[in-house]
Amino acid sequence: MIPVRNDVNKGQDLASIKNPMKKLNSILFVLFILSGNCLYSQSATVLLHVADAKTVINKNIYGHFAEHLGHCIYSGLFVGDSSQVIPNSDGVRNDIIAALKRLKVPVLRWPGGCFADTYHWKDGVGPKKERPTMINKWWGGVTEDNSFGTHDFLNMCERIGADPYLAGNVGSGTVQELSQWVQYVNGEAISPMSLWRKSNGRDKPWHVKYFGVGNEAWGCGGNMSAEYYCNIYRQYATFMTDWNNGDHIFRVASGANADDYHWTEVMMRDVPKGLLEGVSLHYYSVIDWNAKGPAAEFSRQQYFATMKQALRMEELVTKHVAIMDKYDPQKKLALVVDEWGGWYDVEPGTSPFFLYQQNTMRDAMLAGVTLNIFNNHCDRVRMANLAQLVNVLQSVILTNKQKIILTPTYHVMEMYNVHQNAVMIPVSLSNIFYTEGNDSLPAISVSASKDEEGITHVSLVNIDPGKTNLVRIQIEGPILKLGNGRILRSARIQDHNSFDEPEKILPQSFTGAVIKNNELNVSMPPASVVVLTLL
Ligand code: AHR
Repeated sequence: MIPVRNDVNKGQDLASIKNPMKKLNSILFVLFILSGNCLYSQSATVLLHVADAKTVINKNIYGHFAEHLGHCIYSGLFVGDSSQVIPNSDGVRNDIIAALKRLKVPVLRWPGGCFADTYHWKDGVGPKKERPTMINKWWGGVTEDNSFGTHDFLNMCERIGADPYLAGNVGSGTVQELSQWVQYVNGEAISPMSLWRKSNGRDKPWHVKYFGVGNEAWGCGGNMSAEYYCNIYRQYATFMTDWNNGDHIFRVASGANADDYHWTEVMMRDVPKGLLEGVSLHYYSVIDWNAKGPAAEFSRQQYFATMKQALRMEELVTKHVAIMDKYDPQKKLALVVDEWGGWYDVEPGTSPFFLYQQNTMRDAMLAGVTLNIFNNHCDRVRMANLAQLVNVLQSVILTNKQKIILTPTYHVMEMYNVHQNAVMIPVSLSNIFYTEGNDSLPAISVSASKDEEGITHVSLVNIDPGKTNLVRIQIEGPILKLGNGRILRSARIQDHNSFDEPEKILPQSFTGAVIKNNELNVSMPPASVVVLTLL
């Protein structure tokens, strides 16, 4: 079943088509509108197909990405062992560790990005004073001192409870180098790599499961063709062995740029079964690569354009999945969207190479609709990584010396973490539209799941910045009891948390939902994200 049918609302709701008993409710509802008691001329209708819930939303859909770029690592999450001012654990800020634990970050990708294909992991292990430096070619030509390396990253992942996802160097590395990295982090038996790890202070392997085989091989990872990379991938993957009997590594091939469907076709067709576990996809919601627009003081037209780009993820995922289905109808391989998010102009006065941008309610909308798309495609999308964790692009955390702020995107990811490892409930959606000029977009986005304790969560987004919209939720089966609800909203879509006002935008409890005539009526304020609990 295609989980979301984002149909135009032509006055007839999908639920009443499926279940004639519901027709009566619709008629009553229309009468209710006509009686003048209701502010809404139209409503979106959602039907939860509870009986069809069977696929687990892999918690890794809520993954993140941290690159050696700008102030993501250095002066971001890592302040160095010697910071007297900022409390840290082996150099990683304690306030960030605590915030990421609360967020329930399931998986973290590192060290790039484009940086990954310039990175030589051996330079980042052993005594820090002896580590060689390198120039960060892609991100401003800054000197990288390798003080944050493999141990630092993997120990940090252990602290926050996230699975590490190591992106290997294919563009300027060797097969041997990547295969030895796997052996270094995972080898149990006596081998040169496991002995070296032990001599560097780590006795037990980290059991790293996720490995990327290069990054953006079509671009900064080597400017390769799909066919050329495919052969290279086969070679690298062959030597990335499970060094422990119990570990089964999960290899992710560098995948398509946005709508490059040929790339996915070649990887799926030409990599022999057994050499591949996941294919990646990178897609950023950018208005125009030559005119990205400001991150905070954007216009309404720019907001609309960003939403349009964000909603394009539905089409991209659907089409890449269709190709994967052709070669892998049993859906054994995963689509891994290991870079996604909003990309705008850098903040004035900051380096154009550091990609530092503010994070507003627009980003909350972007995160909400994208995560709903991933949830609804969880039979194939089994990991996604928001770019990037701290101080770069659509970050969940921004830092300024001793201070940190949690962005609106952080709050959406935190509100949505109830979906992690829950069973997705397919939804039908009869939508209403948000119009700007001559163009319009579906206003409401939704996904739902049932967790281990039998609790249902519904996440809704109203991207319309000018209109409160009514969403009528109908459930196939007995109506559930309304539990608590949470909402993220603010007066303006440009609103954001700042170091002066770090808690301007926080999730609040939501009182705009009622059960009426056997359906749940949710009044969604302009530009809001709501997560409801049903018992
Ligand atoms: O996230 C920033 C950059 O975007 C990454 O380094 C690269 O993979 C992508 O092009």
